[in-house]
Amino acid sequence: MPVEKSNKKHKVDISQTSSDEVMRLSEIRYSEQDRTKSNIGELDRVLGGGFVEGSLILLGGDPGIGKSTLTLQIAQKNPEMTIFYVAGEESASQIRQRAARLQIKGDNLLIYQNTEISSVIQKAREIKPDLLVVDSIQTVFSSALSSLPGSIQQIRECSAMLQQISKKENVTTLLIGHVTKEGDIAGPRILEHMVDTVLHFDGDQSQLHRLLRSVKNRFGPARETGVFEMTERGLKEITNPSDLFLSEMDSNVSGNAVTCIMEGSRPILVEVQALVTPSSYSTPQRTSSGFDQRRLSLLLAVLEKRAGFQFAGQDVYLNIAGGLRLTDTGADLAVVCALASSLKDIPVSQKTVFIGEVGLGGEIRRIPFLNQRVREAGKMGFEHMILPGVTSTEKTELNLSKTGSISAAVREAFKNRD
Ligand code: TYD
Ligand code: MG
Repeated sequence: MPVEKSNKKHKVDISQTSSDEVMRLSEIRYSEQDRTKSNIGELDRVLGGGFVEGSLILLGGDPGIGKSTLTLQIAQKNPEMTIFYVAGEESASQIRQRAARLQIKGDNLLIYQNTEISSVIQKAREIKPDLLVVDSIQTVFSSALSSLPGSIQQIRECSAMLQQISKKENVTTLLIGHVTKEGDIAGPRILEHMVDTVLHFDGDQSQLHRLLRSVKNRFGPARETGVFEMTERGLKEITNPSDLFLSEMDSNVSGNAVTCIMEGSRPILVEVQALVTPSSYSTPQRTSSGFDQRRLSLLLAVLEKRAGFQFAGQDVYLNIAGGLRLTDTGADLAVVCALASSLKDIPVSQKTVFIGEVGLGGEIRRIPFLNQRVREAGKMGFEHMILPGVTSTEKTELNLSKTGSISAAVREAFKNRD
């Protein structure tokens, strides 16, 4: 906490990163960025091949999602890397305890419990670490400012100073920030424009999987995704996510349909589960978990108007297995077929994958990355796919049913049940 209260404005000196010279683009020297691997495959994938030296990275996510754990694991995987860890969230003994649980010796991890920014910067200059971790950006403060740590002013000021050291001294810096589900604009999101890379750690607290997404990346692909599972021994990499999100399906249960969504450049098979039951309420329930509620209402309306299914007087529940949140509209067709399957109580085949976006006219629209999805379905042992009519795919062993409308797709789904 800042003890000293003063209203003195502290201007950050950015002269070192700016220059008065006007330069011709073609004459500016540059080097192919050196990357240091984190040796955590799923993290390297999201970073675009590893840490770029001197880059400033913001790692955001809900409290308790695993941000500090991931950092400790970077230390574990890279014993030769000197990591300067500014610990504002937990005490040194708590960190030691967690490290013991993760079986991390941590000779390369230098813990600093002072969160006053100029002390942090000074120590970082002395140590010249391979990686500077600030856990979290909400706990560091400048005593030149009167506002409390975590305030916008403090976050901005401290980050600007950390940006200086990352650029000037070429220290790769990882800022950890708590971002709530609501997006918390007043928090670390205000930094998104000034850092090189924004990673977001996401996942359902009640579930074990964690998704690491790159929201912005100046040095690599944006929208790439890494998948982890939280275990008693920390985060475990999931190299084949489809395994995680396909539940142990019983082919005799109605209302289940498998789809293939894209997370970054990665296809993942997921199971959509619908339950449609006669309602005992005057206003029937429409509940969804992991899927946009308004999109569910839209798809129900399309099913009623374009395919003649009646959901009036029925409660509708929709769930995405594994706690995943679907934003890929390629999952529409699976949602529609799961709803129809539950309403009619007719199971669809567990060997079938449904992909396609559903339009308001009940038509099935094309979606991107079709071949990747087809390949993933084949790899995971599926036999049949119902997909948009106007598409061409590479050669595959899958039996493809190209359909133009949801009524045709539902007919096809019911026909192919096993
Ligand atoms: P943490 O890394 O402290 O989250 P953050 O820094 O994002 O706030 O993760 C804490 C949660 O992870 C906590 O609920 C306990 C759980 N956890 C495990 O399940 N296994 C483990 O090995 C560790 C270290 C933590
Ligand atoms: Mg933490």
